[in-house]
This record gives sequence, structure tokens and C-alpha cells, in this order.
Amino acid sequence: MWDQRYANDEFVYGTEPNSFLAEHAHLLKGPVLSLAEGEGRNAVYLASLGLDVLGVDSSSVGLAKAQRLAASRGLAIRTEIADLAEYNPPAGEFGAVVSIFAHLPSAVRRRLYPLVERSLKPGGVLLLEAYSQAQLARDTGGPKDADMLLTTADIASAFPQCQTILCQQIEREVLEGAYHTGLASVVQFIARKNG
Ligand SMILES: C[S@@+](CC[C@H](N)C(=O)[O-])C[C@H]1O[C@@H](n2cnc3c(N)ncnc32)[C@H](O)[C@@H]1O
Repeated sequence: MWDQRYANDEFVYGTEPNSFLAEHAHLLKGPVLSLAEGEGRNAVYLASLGLDVLGVDSSSVGLAKAQRLAASRGLAIRTEIADLAEYNPPAGEFGAVVSIFAHLPSAVRRRLYPLVERSLKPGGVLLLEAYSQAQLARDTGGPKDADMLLTTADIASAFPQCQTILCQQIEREVLEGAYHTGLASVVQFIARKNG
């Protein structure tokens, strides 16, 4: 499905970074692991700030576009094709992990999130934005499956070795390409791993 969505020259989520990420990028240190990176807009932005970024996604088509976007700006990013249902990030490796609209089934999240927490260095930061379950009632983006949508309660309890910096559900305009098209309900989460 994702390879098909990405199989044209257009960047379906645009080439500008997610605005929540851009607003809080000053909190992030490298290396950065970006989950479900897609076509590279966020990894390329972080690379433009001088950060070493590894973008992981199951779509080879998306990651090929990510590499082209980076090259077009004279930047380098690392990419890895992997299914997050099976991915094992290295322990203690990352200064930050970023998860932007990485909508996964709850069973996949239950396996992945402890590994994500383990992959952070002490003091490393996790930054996540995703559509909330309230987004089911809207047609401005996101999966039509409650199991793939988040609540603040889910996310607040998923990273017990981290101190929460921000955990909120808000409505905001998400205008990020052809599939994220307006007022939306999102969960935003930032936490720092205990030192
Ligand atoms: C809504 S897009 C978001 C892309 C990017 N994070 C952004 O904000 O532009 C969701 C991404 O999740 C990826 N994805 C979905 N399920 C995945 C899985 N099981 N493993 C790895 N990537 C997955 C898709 O390939 C797609 O690139």
C-alpha cells in the first residue's frame, strides 16, 4: 500500500518537516532514529540541523525518495528498510527517537516501544506525534482503525524509564501534503530517558 502511495514524483506528505517536530527539534541530539520515515521530509530537516539521522520504514519506494530529497539538498541521511513489527533497534544508541504519524497496530506498538526506550541513550529524547482516537470522527487524515490511533493514556504509560516533558491531545491544523488536510485531533508526546 505504501509503495503504491509513494510511487510517483510528488511527495505526498510534502517536503517540509512536521511542524511539531520543527518546533521542538532543539531538544534533540543525534544520532536520531526516525520511525516510519516515509519520503524523508523529517530526516532531511534534521540532517539540515547537523544531526546524524537513521530513517527506518518498510517502504523501499519511500526511502529511495528520501535519499533523493537529501541528495537534492546536498545532505546525507541513513535509511534502513525494515518492518517495525520485527525491527530491533540497537540498545543505548540514539540521542533521540522521532515518531511522526507512525501509525501501527497496538500489538506492534507493545513490542516496539520497549525496544525504542531501550535504544535511547540516558538523557535521550523521544518525540512523537500521531492522530488520536478522536480523529476517527474526522476525514482530515489518519487510519480509519481505532487500534492504530493513540490516546494520551496509552502513550504516557508506554515509556516507564522516561520522564514526560509533554503529553497532550490537541486539535490543530495539520496541512502536510495530500493526505493530512486540515483540522485534526493529535496526540503529542515528548519524554526524556532517565540518566
Ligand atoms: C503516514 S506515513 C508518515 C511518514 C512520515 N513519518 C511523515 O510524517 O512524513 C506512515 C509511514 O509508516 C510506514 N509504515 C507503516 N507500517 C509500517 C511498518 N510495519 N514498518 C515500517 N514502516 C511502516 C509507511 O511506509 C509510511 O511511510
